[in-house]
Amino acid sequence: MQDTQNILDQTMRYVSEKLSADSSGHDWQHVSRVWRMAKEIQQHEGGNLLVIELAALLHDIADWKFTGGDHDAGPKLAAQWLGQLNVDSSVIDAVVVIIHEVSFRGAGVPTVPTTLEGKIVQDADRLDAIGAVGVARTFAYDGHKGHAMWDPNIPPQKHDSFEAYKTAKSTTVNHFYEKLLLLKDLMNTPYAKKIARQRHMFMEQFLTQLLTELNAPTPA
Ligand code: ADP
Ligand code: NI
Repeated sequence: MQDTQNILDQTMRYVSEKLSADSSGHDWQHVSRVWRMAKEIQQHEGGNLLVIELAALLHDIADWKFTGGDHDAGPKLAAQWLGQLNVDSSVIDAVVVIIHEVSFRGAGVPTVPTTLEGKIVQDADRLDAIGAVGVARTFAYDGHKGHAMWDPNIPPQKHDSFEAYKTAKSTTVNHFYEKLLLLKDLMNTPYAKKIARQRHMFMEQFLTQLLTELNAPTPA
């Protein structure tokens, strides 16, 4: 295997170029924040640093939401890329599992990763889905997709299958109730839980103000 720093540098360049044109909140800046946060969590919680860094860098390389629903595209592309760099197969396998396990799949669908490294990358990714950045990304995503900000005729749902979560008609306001407000209690590591509490409080304040201005009832 090549020098670790070299692998990380090349992977960083590959991902930053690949995601440079994204306007859905899954851009290089998102990945860069997740990478930094994953390293910070690792310092407190342990785990294999190379696996964590590579998985954080590659976790959104070909997200199913932008590949016509193909859930294997991201893990496959990551494995191809790391294979080309002669990364040890044990590291590649660990990274591929993490990319498969990282995503939210609906309020009623359990998604706890099977490894400590996966738990850390998922926490870092989810911390970027809440707080001020989380709010901003959610509006960016729905702008990109052309979804409505709020619709009094579409109540939020707690999806109990990934299929239902993926296909249901929803709005930006609903996404807070269907996912973002649930993330605080779904954090895996104590360090991430602490950061999540503060970001969650900010989101609640934002929503109170938003619903008041929209003259919308607080969803159940
Ligand atoms: P995960 O990282 O768990 O796979 P996603 O990639 O689905 O999560 O979501 C990342 C961010 O993209 C969300 O936190 C949100 O900001 C935005 N997003 C994804 N799906 C939606 C949606 N249906 N409505 C609004 N925003 C969304
Ligand atoms: Ni992500």
